[in-house]
Amino acid sequence: MAMRCKRCRGTAVMEVRRHNAAFCRDCFLHYVGQQVTRAIAKYRMAGHTDRVLVAVSGGKDSLALWDLLLELGYQADGLYLSLGIGAYSERSKAVCQEFAEARGATLLVHDLAGEHGYTIPEAAGKGGRSSCGVCGLSKRYVFNRAALDGGYDVVCTGHNLDDEAAVLFGNTLRWDTAAMARQFPVLEATRPGLVKKVKPLYRVAERETAAYCVLKGIDYVVEECPLVAGNTQMRHKETLNQMEEAAPGTKHSFLFGYLDRAAALLKVADDADLTECARCGMTTQAPEDPASEAVCAFCRSKARLVKTLPIVEVASR
Ligand code: AMP
Ligand code: FES
Ligand code: ZN
Repeated sequence: MAMRCKRCRGTAVMEVRRHNAAFCRDCFLHYVGQQVTRAIAKYRMAGHTDRVLVAVSGGKDSLALWDLLLELGYQADGLYLSLGIGAYSERSKAVCQEFAEARGATLLVHDLAGEHGYTIPEAAGKGGRSSCGVCGLSKRYVFNRAALDGGYDVVCTGHNLDDEAAVLFGNTLRWDTAAMARQFPVLEATRPGLVKKVKPLYRVAERETAAYCVLKGIDYVVEECPLVAGNTQMRHKETLNQMEEAAPGTKHSFLFGYLDRAAALLKVADDADLTECARCGMTTQAPEDPASEAVCAFCRSKARLVKTLPIVEVASR
């Protein structure tokens, strides 16, 4: 029996097991667009008047993202950084240029060797960083600087649900809480010189961005970077894929469970109503029950101590 599209009941071409759904071509493209729209709205990633810079590698995720942002009406230019990884980098650049030309979109091309004097293969292992280590550092630097120089409001990357779940898995295995705190769909520009960074595909799985490109006829570089083969993140992805196979939705609940809790913690921190302590006048958190008196933790502690220690009030305030 042919699968039916969840949305229009037509013949489905793509199954999305974690949502118990299958879609026909058009409804699948609509579903992906909806996930991106939701991501952008939930984390206030970008508005239609913002100038958006999409970092494109030539792979399926970032090209699908650029395509989606253009379709959704965003002012989105592309940025390709040539990392000097031989034919792989040349082919990636050509694919990005073809994509841009076909749509009349603007692509900025930066070149690590030309601008900073090194390629990733040359830098790997020197200066104490692995190829992926220098690569990540170089990308973060160039993306930020290119966005500042070009007057962009936000930088988008193509990190998808699988990427984010694998990174969270690695961070959790090491309990790297500092990295976990930074692993968010949006990183605000907290100081001048930093540009806002967002990941509008965090709700979309890897096989869905691949299907999106195939269904839309977007040519992308299929092979992975030759330097990453067998790295830790790839192993984590394989482990999660096995778990996902046995229990669809595992990655989704792992990542979203974290994001929901992290968001709640941050919300408590920045939404906390502050008020003056009724006893000492210093700033403190307002009590849950508005009828009760606000007394700061220090004063509450002191009140308990007065009962057991010979504390003499020096001044009334
Ligand atoms: P990766 O770190 O290779 O998984 O890539 C994550 C994201 O970084 C991609 O989805 C792109 O948005 C961006 N990116 C990776 N490589 C490049 C590159 N050479 N030039 C521009 N953006 C890139
Ligand atoms: Fe960064 Fe290969 S793309 S190490
Ligand atoms: Zn349909």
